[in-house]
Amino acid sequence: MKEETRLLIQIPRGTYDVLPDESAVWQKIEETARKVCALFNYKEIRTPLFESTDLFQRGVGDTTDIVQKEMYNFKDRGDRSLTLRPEGTASVVRAFVEHKLYGLPNQPAKVYYIGPMFRYERPQSGRTRQFTQFGIEALGSQDPSIDAEVIALAMTFYQSLGLKKLKLVLNSLGDPESREAHRNALIAHFKPSIGEFCEDCQNRLEKNPLRILDCKKDHNHPLMETAPSIIDYLTDSARDYFSHVKEMLDEMGITYELDPTLVRGLDYYNHTTFEIMGSSKGAITTLTGGGRYNGLVSELGGPETPGVGFALSIERLLLALEVENISLQSEGALDCFISSIGDEAGKKASVILYELRQAGLRADKDYMDRKVKAQFKQADRDHAKFVIVIGDEELEQQKAVLKNMADGTQEQVAFVSLADFIKSKISSGV
Ligand code: HAM
Repeated sequence: MKEETRLLIQIPRGTYDVLPDESAVWQKIEETARKVCALFNYKEIRTPLFESTDLFQRGVGDTTDIVQKEMYNFKDRGDRSLTLRPEGTASVVRAFVEHKLYGLPNQPAKVYYIGPMFRYERPQSGRTRQFTQFGIEALGSQDPSIDAEVIALAMTFYQSLGLKKLKLVLNSLGDPESREAHRNALIAHFKPSIGEFCEDCQNRLEKNPLRILDCKKDHNHPLMETAPSIIDYLTDSARDYFSHVKEMLDEMGITYELDPTLVRGLDYYNHTTFEIMGSSKGAITTLTGGGRYNGLVSELGGPETPGVGFALSIERLLLALEVENISLQSEGALDCFISSIGDEAGKKASVILYELRQAGLRADKDYMDRKVKAQFKQADRDHAKFVIVIGDEELEQQKAVLKNMADGTQEQVAFVSLADFIKSKISSGV
């Protein structure tokens, strides 16, 4: 290829690389998520990164920004219309219906997922086009205590990572009857002045007036503030349901603020909706969004089944950790590093290295033909607990010098005993 045609290819806009020095933090976060899910008895589900476009049109709702503006849609070679998943709930519900998980005795089905989602949004701090969600879904129970459990799981997760500046915001969107009454009130409220609103809102008026409250362009219009509040339209049973959720949170000592304007950007919600806000570089941002979605399973072809869940992104969590000055410990330390002098010792080092690893030790050696001093520096960068030194003399005696990097002590250890010796030192905490 000619020199001038070799252009530098850059990462797509709105995406990022997690570099080797950064991945330990991601692993720590993911590991914490898995541990907390195990405590609450949620099991992992893994669904494809792409699904039929219809799934999100029907699931997330075709009047939402996500479906109208943000989906990565494409046709595959078989002319199927597919979409990179913008969120996880619709896929989990599809899998629940497709595999008839509702027929299993183990109900509710409690699942979690960690993986990339894709939305064509304007990239900014805490908003990327590929982002990683950790989410959970509990399908099959309409006990209000499970709404509280879902919220408690999210709070426990953040607390286990040391976050303190969290604010839980709560609302209820009620049952279908409450929603219908509220919908009519919203239409009556906005209709006379709908000409002053953006085109999206004009289209939403009859289709889904609740979406107007979530509009990013018109959020300062005076009619927004005076819009009828869902709380005034809740039926008695929806109100009772919400009281039960609040009571459970009170009992658990989880504090919250009520916000009747919290409508969320996806169509499937009813009853409880919530967001957890955190601070990111001074501004408050939504770290987590979730709620109940009782009609979604039947909308996607399954039997009438209630559901509730949340999702949060690791990108926003990292910003919140930064603001609260929390650095997660990386566990990248090596057990030992082998430093060798000369070709023959280098070969022996490779064999011993293999044996150490077979014995379950985290070990490495120099591959850059460094001088001994530089090899020790590399061992330091890898936070090695021990350094094994092999030179001509050691080869002859079949013994290595073993240096304990914590206290600087040295001793001679036979090659064949190295693995056991180091393991016993590590297990006795030396
Ligand atoms: P969502 O509010 O669209 O809800 O997204 C949940 C969380 O994902 C947000 O609170 C935010 O932390 C993160 N997030 C969304 N978009 C981006 C982005 N472009 N960049 C970085 N982070 C982002 C859902 O996705 C629902 N499926 C949640 C749910 C599960 N409801 C019930 N079950």
